[in-house]
Amino acid sequence: MIFEEKIIITKSDNQTQNLGFKFSKKITPPAAICLYGNLGSGKTTFTKGFAKGLGIKERIISPTFVIVREHEAKKSLFYHIDLYRIENEKELKKIGINDLFLEKKAIVLIEWAENLDNLLPKKRWDIKFEQIEKNKRRITITSNF
Ligand SMILES: Nc1ncnc2c1ncn2[C@@H]1O[C@H](COP(=O)(O)OP(=O)(O)O)[C@@H](O)[C@H]1O
Ligand SMILES: [Mg+2]
Repeated sequence: MIFEEKIIITKSDNQTQNLGFKFSKKITPPAAICLYGNLGSGKTTFTKGFAKGLGIKERIISPTFVIVREHEAKKSLFYHIDLYRIENEKELKKIGINDLFLEKKAIVLIEWAENLDNLLPKKRWDIKFEQIEKNKRRITITSNF
């Protein structure tokens, strides 16, 4: 069941970061946030603002090669995951993604959540990113709980 759906159009990198910042204020651990959308659609940009909102000062970069980056936030542990290069469920299990979803203090944000397949947690936020013009993005936020 979908309890909430919001569509936001952003017109700059900055607006997308601000949206991430504001969204972070709604989130308390444990939480799973699944980001969908093509390369360059704004997932990491959103995540930068989101992390800032959690009080994280470290630089946020796409963890494409390491797959998971852990950042200590004020009241949570923030796991930033990028599944761009994940090929199958076996690799996902190796990362221990299931265990992360069970951590009480964890806020888990996943770029390329398309690749989660059967491991998508039931209770989660889904955020879809679409590029509609060079600097314009349509961002659709839904909660599944
Ligand atoms: N409205 C916008 N929202 C987000 N990014 C934008 C926007 N307009 C332009 N951009 C640019 O698009 C790119 C988005 O890249 P990124 O956030 O890394 O995407 P992804 O993580 O989805 O691959 C950045 O270079 C950013 O500056
Ligand atoms: Mg990215």
